[in-house]
Amino acid sequence: RRVAILISGRGSNMSALVAACMNPSFPGRIVGVISNRPDAKGIETAARYDIPTRIVDHRDFASREEHDEAVKAELEGLGAEIVCLAGYMRLLTPDFVRHFSGRMINIHPSLLPLFPGLDTHKRALNAGMRVHGCTVHFVTEGMDEGPIIAQAAIGVQPDDTAETLAERLLRAEHRLYPHALEMLLRGRARLTNGRVAISMPA
Ligand code: GRF
Repeated sequence: RRVAILISGRGSNMSALVAACMNPSFPGRIVGVISNRPDAKGIETAARYDIPTRIVDHRDFASREEHDEAVKAELEGLGAEIVCLAGYMRLLTPDFVRHFSGRMINIHPSLLPLFPGLDTHKRALNAGMRVHGCTVHFVTEGMDEGPIIAQAAIGVQPDDTAETLAERLLRAEHRLYPHALEMLLRGRARLTNGRVAISMPA
């Protein structure tokens, strides 16, 4: 299956997905990486892997709708069937979300529904959490709200700072995201009636 990735920055989760797809037994391949920011580090990385890259700079568009339409046109041009958001820092329009319903997933650095939005590591520490984690979910209209496909947890250490926690969690994200994508690609995680149906391999 043809997978495209949307990024805005560093792209380390993108790299984890690219690496997973290099395994011939992985059921997907990355057909393109799109960034809304021309300076996204991940775009250089993707180009080094010889993956087609596109910049669709949101500042070139008068509205969110027009920007999303342009991103959608690029995704269609790439023949993308599945869309992975990986540090894509844009709110998506309802039309865009509906178009890719059940085919678009996101990774978020918290155990949702705890801590949607930004600064998740600091907020987990401030809340006195003893575990923290990451979530891969289907994208729906509400930010960081969609039905959950998979999660991974890590322990919070007494001397953790937001930075050390973020760094340790990122390693868990890099394992979780390819796993969740594989579940989607193999039909083991499906969005039905706004809920995730999980089935185990035979
Ligand atoms: C990750 O922590 C991801 O969970 C969040 O944004 C960050 C992106 O990092 N959505 P990277 O660009 O994948 O390195």
